Amino acid sequence: MEVVPLGSADEIAATAADVFEAVVRRNSAAVLGLATGSTPLPTYRELIRRHQAGVGPSYRGVTCFNLDEYVGLPTGHEQSYRATIARELTDGLGIGADRVNGPDPSPDGLPTAGARYEALIQAAGGIDVQLLGIGADGHLAFNEPGSSLASRTRIKTLTAQTRKDNARFFSSLDEVPTHVLTQGLGTILAARHLVFIAVEESKADAVAAAVEGPVSASCPASVLQLHPHVTVLLDPAAASRLERLDYYREVYAAKPAWQGL
Ligand code: PGA
Repeated sequence: MEVVPLGSADEIAATAADVFEAVVRRNSAAVLGLATGSTPLPTYRELIRRHQAGVGPSYRGVTCFNLDEYVGLPTGHEQSYRATIARELTDGLGIGADRVNGPDPSPDGLPTAGARYEALIQAAGGIDVQLLGIGADGHLAFNEPGSSLASRTRIKTLTAQTRKDNARFFSSLDEVPTHVLTQGLGTILAARHLVFIAVEESKADAVAAAVEGPVSASCPASVLQLHPHVTVLLDPAAASRLERLDYYREVYAAKPAWQGL
């Protein structure tokens, strides 16, 4: 795990955008893994800003996979993750809807939705770079505490806390779905590069548990310790409870220029 303590959410956005752009410049048919929530939004805005200023790469050939999706919302609901990713990122980058995949929440297909999504990811050659946030309870995608560290895409039940956290996107708590389809922790571990971002003090305990705590299903994000290429981008508040913070700063300051992230 490479922990990079940065100065602000804007620095995280610029750094994460650099990583995604570098992947697409290396391979115009790259497979990008996308996350929803508030944390990725500055990164998405930065990617779109650069693209529209003509300094970003072309995204015409990329394929995208969303991490998760609500179950039970009407098709096309503005808070579905398919609609959210289109609105916040892929429309702005000129990526057609046919190149953006998400788990299929249609009621009749739920029993097979997980296996079908895994097959789609595999058919695309796997995910080159995956953006990830973290829940205050340590969840990764919608893998709530207790999720198998080897899990694949499947249906999950949200915790009361996650539904409360996400109620800000809906007009009432009752509207927040109880179920979701989410890539599993094993699915996430199969992506080639993970870019894990967190901001604000509300994430500091979860970040410390994920980065420095024991690997445990009680903190699903701790599974990242098993991945060979994870870049952790943190603002000062999210990094504030890390015991080895000074060391991470030293490592980053002395990082060989040829190495990249
Ligand atoms: P947030 O959500 O970025 O809105 O804080 C992250 C998550 O729940 O994984």
